[in-house]
Amino acid sequence: MGDYHIYNKSCYGLDEVRKNSVHALITDPPYGISYQNNHWDKNLPEKQIWSDALDRLRPGAFGAVFSAVRLMHRMMVDLEDSGFIIKDVLFWSYLNGMPKSRDIALDIDKELGVESHNAGTYKYVQGYRKEGAAHYKTEATKHKKVPASKEGKFFVGSGLGLKPAYEPVILVQKPTEKKLSVAQNIIKYGTGALNIEQTRIPYEKGEGKVGHNPHPKGRVAANIVRTTAFEDGYDKFFLVPKVRQHAETYNNHPTLKPVDLMHHLTKLLTWEGQTILDPFMGSGSTGVSAYLLRRKFVGYELDKEYFKIAKRRMEEAVI
Ligand SMILES: C[S@@+](CC[C@H](N)C(=O)[O-])C[C@H]1O[C@@H](n2cnc3c(N)ncnc32)[C@H](O)[C@@H]1O
Repeated sequence: MGDYHIYNKSCYGLDEVRKNSVHALITDPPYGISYQNNHWDKNLPEKQIWSDALDRLRPGAFGAVFSAVRLMHRMMVDLEDSGFIIKDVLFWSYLNGMPKSRDIALDIDKELGVESHNAGTYKYVQGYRKEGAAHYKTEATKHKKVPASKEGKFFVGSGLGLKPAYEPVILVQKPTEKKLSVAQNIIKYGTGALNIEQTRIPYEKGEGKVGHNPHPKGRVAANIVRTTAFEDGYDKFFLVPKVRQHAETYNNHPTLKPVDLMHHLTKLLTWEGQTILDPFMGSGSTGVSAYLLRRKFVGYELDKEYFKIAKRRMEEAVI
């Protein structure tokens, strides 16, 4: 059994956590965008949780807070107003985001009472093929429509949004103790720096080492974390594919984060034996990562069912 404490209750107050005791905050809170109509995602977290978390973190401790492109500015202001220093924004980038757009030219036809033209059929495929299955989750033949009105034709191909290809992760830091240098702060609290050493990207075989003083372990990790390689020789960024809820039979959390991604943040923000706090742990990916990488963990989850999943994952240390 690893060293972790998880609570099935609201994180507000963080009553179980001592002041200045936590080495890092790693959390994926509600984004405030009502993702898939989830009731818990209607609003951004109240500022109070960030000031509670700041109080529990050791001086100089770092935090990684997931956010959504549309509302990250508000989350950043809340974090800053609560006393955090904004250090960076990491981009977790992937290729399998779904654009939430539709053909507005067809809406224009409808608005004008004009029947859009049929332009053949296409195969609609949704979901993925589970191992060994003959078919995708949903396959259907649909009619392709093209605008018929003059105005619709003029605006053909217009839409409302781009394909989402990244999620921002706000990197924050609690200020170091007043009058202490970074080194003095680290000696006193064990916090104040990122763990660059553990997150270096190794050089490709045969690659000439870069920089004036190349490090044998490779490059410093970038602030972009990708799921697929750039086509420029080899990938100099950290790659983490998205996971599907169904990858695990019992984990149906709609915003499940890959443990590999959490591993990257765990390694970047902490050293072995240190404590990570996740006030919004959902199905527990942060906790599983902490456990597997020998960090201590404190997590909160309000929902009974998600908590059960997190508990089971922690007990089984399931990726
Ligand atoms: C974005 S999800 C986290 C998903 C998680 N990263 C995972 O991999 O499963 C945010 C979670 O915060 C929980 N939540 C919302 N408000 C909360 C509160 N006040 N206290 C504790 N948990 C809360 C929601 O139930 C939801 O499961």
